[in-house]
Amino acid sequence: MSVRRLADEAIQPAEFAFSNDNLKWAERKIAEYPAGRQQSAVIPLLMRAQDQQGWVSRAAIEKVAQMLGMAYIRVLEVATFYTQFLLKPVGTNAHIQVCGTTPCMLRGAEALREVCQHRIHHEPFHTNAEGTLSWEEVECLGACVNAPMVTIGQDTYEDLTVERFEEIVEAFAAGNGKSIRPGPQIKRQFSAAAGGGTTLIEMPTAERIRVEFPPPPAPAATAVAPAPTTPGRKREVSEEAAPALKEPRRASKVSVAKAEAERMQADAGAKADGAPNRAMRENATGSESPAGKVGGGKAPGKATRSAPGEGAASAGTMPDAGGKPKGKKS
Ligand code: FES
Repeated sequence: MSVRRLADEAIQPAEFAFSNDNLKWAERKIAEYPAGRQQSAVIPLLMRAQDQQGWVSRAAIEKVAQMLGMAYIRVLEVATFYTQFLLKPVGTNAHIQVCGTTPCMLRGAEALREVCQHRIHHEPFHTNAEGTLSWEEVECLGACVNAPMVTIGQDTYEDLTVERFEEIVEAFAAGNGKSIRPGPQIKRQFSAAAGGGTTLIEMPTAERIRVEFPPPPAPAATAVAPAPTTPGRKREVSEEAAPALKEPRRASKVSVAKAEAERMQADAGAKADGAPNRAMRENATGSESPAGKVGGGKAPGKATRSAPGEGAASAGTMPDAGGKPKGKKS
């Protein structure tokens, strides 16, 4: 890959100006971009300058930078990055760019370079004696599938052999380059298989059969219409829908007044006076007493696993005869 530098100052023109037609074209091109994005026109403008001048001079780079309001260094970066921009004067009929990246090298690019060295000049960027041809080696030009290839102007010539490339070089040297069809130089359609198709090469024999399916029948009208209701009246509920209706109605189970009367009747029957009911439990002390702590809350007389006399006594909570627990200050 050659180092991309601007041409020697000795051959740099003092200034550059677009022709009237190219200036109008450039202004239309700049106007295509949204406000504030005019700098995106840098590549089209540089390419137009190259088309007009034959190469991109320092003065052309400065002119494009001025038109787009860009720093000169930024336009210089673009011009020196892309090998499409020619930074030195080249052959008047053709400047041949030979791809020298791996796929093309594996497919014979070195032999194409030798053709250039013998037919044009041993060194790149030098023109032939007539000044009509020049060449250089560049990196991948994006047609690897049809390697090896070269680019001349804005066209690519692919699937090259030494013989075919020599024919192309001679055609351009004679100013007859337009007679050469760009693209693959063998019987290949674009980048399709070089030896022709290997799959899907037979005409299909199967017939497409369209089967009509009848639409499904409409669902039967089985839905039962709801019973008519009268506004303001409760809907009738049949016994079938509510089996409880079959049984005779009972009186309500819950009645606060009745429950209270029953409780008072029971109190009177038990002669309840609020005192502990010792008939029910011998050592009962009343709900407010610490009876729950006696014997671990076990009912008196119920056998425990501890030895007789232990348990409540050892806990020091056995009530005395007055119903007060021992060892406990009330
Ligand atoms: S390697 Fe030559 S075109 Fe990509």
